[in-house]
Amino acid sequence: MTSATKIVTDKTGAPEIVTNVVPLPRRAVLEMPEYHPPLAGRDALRLDFNENTFAPSPKVIERLRQITAEGLTKYPEREGVERIAAAHFGLQADQVLLTNGVDEAIHLVCAAILEEDDEALISTPTFFMYEVSSRMMTAHLTRVQADESLEFPYEQFLAAITPRTKLIIVASPNNPTGAVVSRDHLLAICAAAPQAVVLVDEAYYHFFGETLFADVGKVPNLLVARTFSKAYGLANLRIGLLAGNAALMQYVRKVSSPYNVNGVALDCLPVALTDDAYVAWYAAQVNAGRARMMDGLRALGVDFFPSHANFVLMKIGSKHAELVAAMRARGVLLRDRSTDPGCDGFVRITIGVEEHVTRGLAALKESLQEIGWAK
Ligand SMILES: Cc1ncc(COP(=O)(O)O)c(C=O)c1O
Repeated sequence: MTSATKIVTDKTGAPEIVTNVVPLPRRAVLEMPEYHPPLAGRDALRLDFNENTFAPSPKVIERLRQITAEGLTKYPEREGVERIAAAHFGLQADQVLLTNGVDEAIHLVCAAILEEDDEALISTPTFFMYEVSSRMMTAHLTRVQADESLEFPYEQFLAAITPRTKLIIVASPNNPTGAVVSRDHLLAICAAAPQAVVLVDEAYYHFFGETLFADVGKVPNLLVARTFSKAYGLANLRIGLLAGNAALMQYVRKVSSPYNVNGVALDCLPVALTDDAYVAWYAAQVNAGRARMMDGLRALGVDFFPSHANFVLMKIGSKHAELVAAMRARGVLLRDRSTDPGCDGFVRITIGVEEHVTRGLAALKESLQEIGWAK
């Protein structure tokens, strides 16, 4: 009983508990970190969240216009769309779960897999939601820090696997570094930890081109996540896909709500999947823009990490916050990554369509000059 809880007696002399104390959650919830991305005031050129900077396929917009008032009154039906998505990616329907973005996929995998004594394993820096969702279940999160190259620390990562390791999450390409992990290394990690689920996050697959989809079902402990928030331009609809061995997927499906993905997203996904040409066009815009951005940074004398995703991580140094503010004043948002482990002084810029890269580079040149930046 807490000090704010009192037991009094009512008129009949019966005991009555009077309390103004809110019950506590599980200890893991008290101790887990929170993720508060800087979302306010994003009415500018958004080069801060690695979204598509332009639009989804025009076919999706057409489909959205056909949504009826009655359609909105219905609970969403996920299964039919799961069959379509599975066929599109060469998978079986029971190997696929559609989720409320990859964020939810991570959350569901952690909820389904991790006991409080289990260990989760990630390398840092990486996507912060891995830490949030795994710590929701267990205090035992092992982080293997990359060295100054920010490449994936493969040998140290393998060495950090223990018999208690139950979940391993690797993003390839990784956020915020843009570094990748080869298929051979990812499969070696799966083999080194047969007791653990290995979740490979392919959120940025379209800007790199290597995938483990062909290994889904064959490698029993492998899960692969894909998002429709990036190349497909559907971040606001919240839809992602998790694929894996059917038996493993059954456990993850069990902890998911049947209505986790909204019907508007489910209506749009099959249409988005028919327009591969659009996604290929957007990825080509990003890949050309990324090369242009890296050339531009070289010309400005700014060091950066070679990226395989739709963003580039730059080494700015002590003026990182000043640069972000100067860019914002020019209507361009960047993401300060200085608080990420090993990223002090680093700022990330998203690569979008050609015009947005041009604007980003021009603003960068002016802003670096304005703040008197020097290496
Ligand atoms: C590596 C990685 N995974 C997942 C996500 C989130 O994807 P979604 O929008 O599908 O939740 C992000 C978003 O930035 C990311 O960087």
